[in-house]
Amino acid sequence: MEHELQSLEAEARKCLHDLTDEGQLEEFRIRFLGRKGSFSTIMRQLGTVPAEDRPRVGQLANTIKAEIEKLFEAKKNTLDAAISGASDRQTPDLTLPGRVPAGGRLHPITQVMRETCTIFENLGFSVAEGPDVELDYYNFEALNIPAHHPARDMHDTFYISDSVLLRTHTSPMQARIMEVQQPPLRVIAPGKVYRCDSDITHTPMFHQVEGFLVDKNISFADLKGVLTVFTRKMFEKELPLRFRPSFFPFTEPSAEVDIACVMCGGSGCRVCKKTGWLEILGSGMIDPEVFKKVGYDPEVYSGFAFGLGIERIAMLKYGIDDIRLFYENDQRFLSQF
Ligand code: DAH
Repeated sequence: MEHELQSLEAEARKCLHDLTDEGQLEEFRIRFLGRKGSFSTIMRQLGTVPAEDRPRVGQLANTIKAEIEKLFEAKKNTLDAAISGASDRQTPDLTLPGRVPAGGRLHPITQVMRETCTIFENLGFSVAEGPDVELDYYNFEALNIPAHHPARDMHDTFYISDSVLLRTHTSPMQARIMEVQQPPLRVIAPGKVYRCDSDITHTPMFHQVEGFLVDKNISFADLKGVLTVFTRKMFEKELPLRFRPSFFPFTEPSAEVDIACVMCGGSGCRVCKKTGWLEILGSGMIDPEVFKKVGYDPEVYSGFAFGLGIERIAMLKYGIDDIRLFYENDQRFLSQF
């Protein structure tokens, strides 16, 4: 029996050495180490060995079996490593089309906002930002809109308390700046504004840029000049401008400014409602009442102010017919800018 064990060991070693894949390894396990395998078969014959030889033969059998099991584990590890190594090393398929990462870009509103600021900065305006949560005083009172003034109705204000609100326009920055600085002033104030209103041309939050200039001898001609430069730069065209008489409590006289329709060039279309003109902003000469509130002498100083809606400019610039598209975060829309 010792002889049998030794030849079994030799055979097992040779088999293990020669086998090359997991299938063969499993066959080996069944054939040599399994419950009905060669070792078990021999061990079952241990009872036939003379009693005095039995401990020695038993021990030999155990040693050989342990040795074969150790070799088996080692072979298994080598095969496993070879398999995972092979998959790591798979050569890339160079014919596959590349994956293009989705590139981030600035939101169209941010782009138009920045462009607007740059145009005015190049004209010597400085940029000032103020609070979205504003006092009734700056949003209305200081702009010559006292309590119960009918102009308040137009603003669809979100009130936080009797005296605190979400600003309905960026005009309060006129009062805030003038209160603490002396002329000459050339300032723009970009930012978010809020009104309780929502349809295809209104969202409850939108963006405005307020601009104002105060100095001695400022006239309506200066306003016209600045706004003409702005529209030409923004729309990259020599668009005719039209000043239409209007009313704002904080400017006198006041004007709404139209540009010739960017779609039809003035001949009349759906976008300009057949008028040939598109309204782009409100403006005027700063009302003496506003100057008085901030302590400027209206006999000495004059100035103009204007307020433009960024969404509106962006819609006209890019031919967008629904303002809500800006706020739906649809990649297909946003990726066009
Ligand atoms: N604040 C006005 C609004 O939101 C826009 C405006 C009109 C601003 C005339 C001005 C201005 O500075 O002079 O409706």
